[in-house]
Amino acid sequence: MKNSLKFNNDTFRVMLVGDPHESPKDKSDEDKAKIADYLALQYAAVTELKPDLVILMGDNAKGKDTDELRKVLLRITKPYADHNIPFAFILGNHDLECEVNDINVQYDVYRTLPCCVLPCKDEVNSFGDYFLTIKNDDETEDIFNFWLMYSGSGAAKEYYSCYDFVKAEQIRWYEEKSEELKLLNNKTVPSMVIQHIPVPEEFRLLKERSFLSMIADGVTGQNEQKGKFYTLDKKKTVGYMGEAPCTSGYNSGQFKSWKKTGNVIAAFFGHDHMNDFIGDVDGITLGQCKTAGFRPYGDGLMQGVRIIDIKKDIPTEFDTKMVYYRDLIGTECHSIHGAEKVLRDRISVKLDVLKAVIKYTAPVILPIAAIKIIKSIKK
Ligand SMILES: [Fe+2]
Ligand SMILES: [Fe+2]
Repeated sequence: MKNSLKFNNDTFRVMLVGDPHESPKDKSDEDKAKIADYLALQYAAVTELKPDLVILMGDNAKGKDTDELRKVLLRITKPYADHNIPFAFILGNHDLECEVNDINVQYDVYRTLPCCVLPCKDEVNSFGDYFLTIKNDDETEDIFNFWLMYSGSGAAKEYYSCYDFVKAEQIRWYEEKSEELKLLNNKTVPSMVIQHIPVPEEFRLLKERSFLSMIADGVTGQNEQKGKFYTLDKKKTVGYMGEAPCTSGYNSGQFKSWKKTGNVIAAFFGHDHMNDFIGDVDGITLGQCKTAGFRPYGDGLMQGVRIIDIKKDIPTEFDTKMVYYRDLIGTECHSIHGAEKVLRDRISVKLDVLKAVIKYTAPVILPIAAIKIIKSIKK
C-alpha cells in the first residue's frame, strides 16, 4: 500500500499498539481466549477511536517460517484491514528471535499485508528505519512526520549494556533525511519518533529513591540500574510506572541529535509493558505505551492503546491519552480471571502486604515489646 497519509480533518489521529507478542499458537482453549481478547480490544479500539493510522510498537509476532509469520500478522492486522485503516510498524527486541530472523525477510512479509504502509526497499535503510510524512489535504506539503526507528535487540559486549540502542549510522541517516525534508518543504517538519527500546534520557523523568520507596510506589532498577530504586517524578510526569525502564545502558547520542536537529517534538516507546507515563525532558515529550497483548507479562486487565491527536494548524502540539481495555470493553475477559484482573498498583499492593505483616507479627512482637518496656521501667 502506497503511503498517502494526509490530514482529512483538522486532526490526524494515530493509535499506538504496544507489544502484542502474538504467536502462532492457536489450538488450546487458553490460546483461543488470548487471541479473542486481543482481537476484541483491537476491533473495539478502531471502531470507537477511528484512527487515521495504527502503529505496532514492536515485539509484534513470531513464526517458524514466512508463511506462519504472515498468518499471525494477517490475524493481528485484520481489524485494520477490515476498516481500511493504514498501519505501520517497528520491530522490537523479540521479533527476530524466531526462525525468520532476517529483518529484510520480515519486512517483505509485512509488505504483503493489506493496509501496510511500509515504503519500498529504497526508502528503508539497512537497519530497517524509515519515515512517514503526513501531508496536507491537497498533498502539496508535509505537515508532520514519523520516524520509525529500529532499536535492535541485545547490545554487543563492548557496550556493557543488556539492551541495544539506535546506532551512530542510524543517527546520521536521521540527520541527513531531516535536512532533505527541511529543504523539500522550506521549513522544519515537526516529527515524532516511534521506537521500541526507550532512550536512556527517560530516567530524567524519574527520581532515585531509597529502598523504602518500595513500600509505596517505588520500582527496582533493572540491568545496569540493578540495586537502585525509582519513582516517577510527579512534577514532570503523568501516567503510571509499573516497572523501571529497560533502556540501553549505553547512550548513543540519539536524544542529543534530536535536540540538535530540532524537528522532534516527542518520542514514544514500547518494550516496558506496564509503563504508560509521559513527561517533558528538555522540551521533548518522552512517553510510554503499555502492552495491548494478552500473551506477555502485563498489568492485570490494563491492556490498552495510546491515542495521539496531531493538529493540522499547530502541528507542534498534540494531545495524547491511553485508552484501556476496561474503557472500551469493561471487565469481561476470556483469558484474565479473578484477582489477576486487578492492576498491580504498587501502592495498594504494598500497603496490603505491610498491613498483613503487622497483623500476623503483632501478636508475637507486641507482648515481647510490652515485657521489655515493663522490665526497663522496673529497673
Ligand atoms: Fe515486549
Ligand atoms: Fe521488548
